[in-house]
Amino acid sequence: MCGIIGIASNKPVSINIINSLKKLEYRGYDSAGLATLHQNTIIEKKCSGRVEELEKILFNSPSNGNLGIGHVRWATHGIPNETNAHPHSSDIVSVVHNGIIENSDELKKKLELKGSKFKSQTDTEVITLMITDLLKNNDPLESVIKTLKQLKGSFALGIIFKNFENYIIGARRGSPLAVGYANNENFLGSDSYALKSMTNKISYLDDGDICLLTKDKIDFYDANKKRINKKIHLLSDDENISSKGDYKNFMSKEIFEQPITAQNCIKEYIDNLKQDINIYNFPIEPNKINKIILIGCGTAYHSCLVAKYWIEELTTIEVEVDIASEFRYRKLKFNKNNLYIFISQSGETADTAAALDICKKNNVKTCSIVNAVESTIARNSDWVLPIHAGPEIGVASTKAFLGQMLVLYILSLKLGHTRKDIDDKSYQHNLKNLKLIPNAIKESLKIESNIQLMAKEFLDAKGSMFLGRGLSFPIALEGALKLKELSYLHAEGYPAGEMKHGPLALIEEGLPVIVIAPEDKYFEKTLSNMQEVIARGGKILFITNQKKVLVNENIRFSIKVPLLDNMLSPILLTIPIQLLAYHVALLKGCDIDKPRNLAKSVTVE
Ligand code: G6P
Repeated sequence: MCGIIGIASNKPVSINIINSLKKLEYRGYDSAGLATLHQNTIIEKKCSGRVEELEKILFNSPSNGNLGIGHVRWATHGIPNETNAHPHSSDIVSVVHNGIIENSDELKKKLELKGSKFKSQTDTEVITLMITDLLKNNDPLESVIKTLKQLKGSFALGIIFKNFENYIIGARRGSPLAVGYANNENFLGSDSYALKSMTNKISYLDDGDICLLTKDKIDFYDANKKRINKKIHLLSDDENISSKGDYKNFMSKEIFEQPITAQNCIKEYIDNLKQDINIYNFPIEPNKINKIILIGCGTAYHSCLVAKYWIEELTTIEVEVDIASEFRYRKLKFNKNNLYIFISQSGETADTAAALDICKKNNVKTCSIVNAVESTIARNSDWVLPIHAGPEIGVASTKAFLGQMLVLYILSLKLGHTRKDIDDKSYQHNLKNLKLIPNAIKESLKIESNIQLMAKEFLDAKGSMFLGRGLSFPIALEGALKLKELSYLHAEGYPAGEMKHGPLALIEEGLPVIVIAPEDKYFEKTLSNMQEVIARGGKILFITNQKKVLVNENIRFSIKVPLLDNMLSPILLTIPIQLLAYHVALLKGCDIDKPRNLAKSVTVE
């Protein structure tokens, strides 16, 4: 989703703006642009498509200037084309924006009455033209503050001014924004990841904050122009992980590095000497937890669904699962003995962050399970459990899903044991099995060549269906989501027992139906549901971990992952559904790391 960069320096900035925009590409975008300030002139360059296009434009016609802003846009208001790309500039102001201005139509009408002319279809241009108007009688900071007071919605902004060669103004409400410090250079960015190659000294803006950035210093203000101070964070150095090495794309790298992802995560949480889980400082004493509410979006939401089964199985705590965009608008009853857990790879998802804010306003205890430990969600929650997966670049989440499941399983185990809901023997047994996971994932990845063959079955399909029961139901949902995201093929995920209540009507001759059936208490029941599909002509692709090979002439393909403890089956059964989506998308020639219309970091609601 949209990304912002700003640089004030003592040397030309356009190349570093381009390099930083490349770091923001992972968020998902459809156009790019930059504006620099040189000899009192704003030089704007924009294009639809990729940052490489913008780089080519700059190669043919360089942009000078020691100060500038850049942007990658994920279209909300107006189609993705050059005119709607950011920055949006007047003669005297240039603006990059991440977020949505909800009252832009109303503001636009007022500006038009005053004679302002709009070039684009975006909501952002109202900001440019409002500041331009206010600059007639105010200095830049006052013009920005007066403009922000009239805006409804969310924003992170980077603004430069023709007659003020020295500075960039940044502002945040609802969309993340960070600044970075270096010698003779200071930076503005949507996230610390974009700034990391230039500095490891970062401050984060909070909602309502404004910053004024020159090459020598950064001043911070609140919404009423009162000076405020910000803490400087030193970032850890994990940059090396963000290259795709020998892999065709980031997604395949991220799928295949999952044995290491699992190992790192387990190493962080399991104390091998004490044979115990290193999780302490619960924000609520475990025995007093009344209910756990798990909240997330997309794939993270699916990890919550898996965890519901684990928490119910391993503890006596009640569990609820919610989609963040629904949770945030419902009339909820908060209870101080409830623990609200937010799952997010990026830690920046707007709906999840807003749901967390609501919990904070209601004074209840919050925990976040994130990959990005320097993110807004991590910083705003009472307790953080990182998944230690390293940067995930492919838009469709894979290794982060694995990390989320692992941390949720580890947390469930620890809670169950601390509360004495499970005894020492079962705790130790589960810990032992958990340590077998990295190798079992490695084994599971060996099925790739079979999955490649299976993927061919989807080339002419009109749609597909994923079925599972119990712990395999969320994996069916995740399988369908992955296939949709990557290959654009319609896919439905269903609890197998629900088939006869509607979805069975979709089954017709040759429709691929992926049945996820591990050797658990649901196995026979899932097989019966599978028979109902076979009887109506569905083409069965069977994924299991059962010891005996199931021979059935109606099963087109059978894929087997290692059999560990039943409780851990969702982790291993995830591998085939990830590989399947990947290979179908590859066969169809889709853009694997950047599927159409999607974004990695969904910073608007
Ligand atoms: C986007 C991504 C998904 C991700 C979801 C939630 O839709 O494409 O892969 O699951 O956001 O993101 P989060 O960063 O909160 O886990």
